[in-house]
Amino acid sequence: MNDHYRTWIRDIPDFPKQGILFRDITPLLGNGPVYRDAIAAIAAAARAWQPELIVGPEARGYVVGAPLAVTLGLGFVPVRKPGKLPYKTVSVEYALEYGTDRLEIHADAIRPGQRVVVADDLLATGGTMRATMDLVEKLGGVVVGAAFLIELKPLRGRDRLGDIPVYTLVQFDD
Ligand code: PRP
Ligand code: MG
Repeated sequence: MNDHYRTWIRDIPDFPKQGILFRDITPLLGNGPVYRDAIAAIAAAARAWQPELIVGPEARGYVVGAPLAVTLGLGFVPVRKPGKLPYKTVSVEYALEYGTDRLEIHADAIRPGQRVVVADDLLATGGTMRATMDLVEKLGGVVVGAAFLIELKPLRGRDRLGDIPVYTLVQFDD
């Protein structure tokens, strides 16, 4: 647990529905030095994996992935919900609590063999990141690590990401 950053994450009970404790990162994002330092910490971990490209899923993945890419001097590739990307796409379906959803990536976004770090704000069940990694792998990219601001440990999202290094700035055990 990184206590300093924990104090910049606000707990909202019963959001978006009864019984869910929402971990709200907007206080962290709203403070320039804290946001900068959080991204710098993630960048230090990700740099060691020697990525060539950062990939992140909409929408909250962009607030981690894009500044991470800029910090490392790398390109950023957006993964989007269906119908948003203008060029030829590749897509994957993934399971939600109820039903399924779909994510897309531009078909020419990654060169085969390219080393990719995937980034998002939150690792919960891992479904979103698994789908993001599947898109990278469909294009021939090599996922060399995954980075997040927050990990909800009891949901065991790490178990779905396979044998890659995973960095999370703040972990919650409950
Ligand atoms: C949230 C969060 C992660 C994902 C984590 O995204 O930003 O992407 O859920 O959950 P998982 O590990 O169980 O997949 P959400 O789908 O709410 O969309 P948003 O980023 O567009 O707000
Ligand atoms: Mg998200």
